[in-house]
Amino acid sequence: MQSRTPSQSTSVLAHWMGVADANASGDIHGGTIMKLVDEAAGIASVRHSRRRTVTASIDRMSFLVPIKIGQLVTFTATVNAAWRTSMEVGVRVEAEDPRTGEVRHASSAYLTFVALDDRGLPTAVPPLSTETPTDARRAHDAELRRRHRLAEREAIEHGRSAFSPQPPGSGDATAGVSR
Ligand SMILES: CC(C)(COP(=O)(O)OP(=O)(O)OC[C@H]1O[C@@H](n2cnc3c(N)ncnc32)[C@H](O)[C@@H]1OP(=O)(O)O)[C@@H](O)C(=O)NCCC(=O)NCCS
Repeated sequence: MQSRTPSQSTSVLAHWMGVADANASGDIHGGTIMKLVDEAAGIASVRHSRRRTVTASIDRMSFLVPIKIGQLVTFTATVNAAWRTSMEVGVRVEAEDPRTGEVRHASSAYLTFVALDDRGLPTAVPPLSTETPTDARRAHDAELRRRHRLAEREAIEHGRSAFSPQPPGSGDATAGVSR
């Protein structure tokens, strides 16, 4: 399968924030930002895979500064890494005050998307080939996040089995018996 570079799927959404996007104090709802982050990242994942994709997880999302009504917000989504059927997409959110031109980094997020075939089953995606040192750093960081995510899942599953109730008759027969 032909590899693709991050620049081939980079996607940008822009939204001019209005009253309907905000709470009573004029700050934009976190959920409004998350929806647009998901959309921008989804477009990048479809462009990379040329498949329908679903959001499997949002690994991390930070809100650095509040976004206000009247600001022009851009969501820049880049595929950081591609594995067998899944891809990590990073999204950088920038808020511009169009009257002053001041631009602030407002938020960042990392999402994992899975490509689906026509039956709705996970299907292979093209490998990612990096072009620039920034691409390579992002790919390296994405590998670390995936490794941590998988290790965390394994540790939680292992921990759960220690807390699951034992069926009657199994385990220590003397448990609860005073001696
Ligand atoms: C995401 C989904 C397709 C994965 O299905 P699955 O049966 O677990 O598939 P698999 O076990 O074969 O895993 C497929 C890939 O998904 C990845 N994956 C599955 N669950 C994941 C999760 N929670 N976070 C990150 N990656 C995940 C696996 O690591 C694997 O990646 P790889 O092939 O690159 O190694 C399925 O859980 C799903 O449909 N979820 C609902 C998605 C949805 O409705 N999103 C919101 C609206 S778009």
